[in-house]
Amino acid sequence: MEDFLPEDEAIVNARQRGEEVGATPIGPAGGAALRFLATLIGARTVVEVGTGCGVSGISLMRGMPPDGVLTSVDVDHENQRLAKLAYREAGLGSFRTRMIVGRALEVLPRLTDGAYDMVFCDAVKTEYPEYFTAALRLLRPGGVMAFDNALLNRRVADPSYRGDPTTEAVREIHHRVREDERLVPLLLPVGDGLLCAVKRD
Ligand SMILES: C[S@@+](CC[C@H](N)C(=O)[O-])C[C@H]1O[C@@H](n2cnc3c(N)ncnc32)[C@H](O)[C@@H]1O
Repeated sequence: MEDFLPEDEAIVNARQRGEEVGATPIGPAGGAALRFLATLIGARTVVEVGTGCGVSGISLMRGMPPDGVLTSVDVDHENQRLAKLAYREAGLGSFRTRMIVGRALEVLPRLTDGAYDMVFCDAVKTEYPEYFTAALRLLRPGGVMAFDNALLNRRVADPSYRGDPTTEAVREIHHRVREDERLVPLLLPVGDGLLCAVKRD
């Protein structure tokens, strides 16, 4: 499943740099799912929380139309520098991105309500519940939110992980995505799990 779609040199290089600096990239099938979702909804405005070294950003931009803009947030300036290098290697011009260096919980409140087609979250897992609240606010009706590492290497489903803050935070967004009537939920078992939801009209 992970190697159904071989990755090109730009993504392979970005993935290697991400692994080297500890900004673990989304897996190949997860990246393909992001590109698919962005294409499906014609996403022109996308927020990414956790730029890393650019694997997910390339995947998203390859699903967005050429005039789409990816707003990507990361607290680490050096990771964003490597992501920009990856975007260049992928042939994606700098006009395609708005790169913001800062903590997600400080940056997200500054972004405009209802202005985004898609929100992808892949930064601090214990902050996923806050990202969920922000995503609901930022998305237009019909927009899609997606969270990477939604399975946490099977810990989410393992009852012996009790009281672990990361596991509990991811369990909380499972619950919220499933129970919120404003959303249509889907858990994709790609890579480490991609939890998705469409915001209803
Ligand atoms: C798992 S990596 C992202 C990988 C990237 N999405 C990809 O697929 O290539 C997580 C990133 O979140 C960033 N990060 C950590 N804490 C953060 C925070 N409080 N706000 C924003 N970004 C943060 C890290 O610097 C790191 O680059």
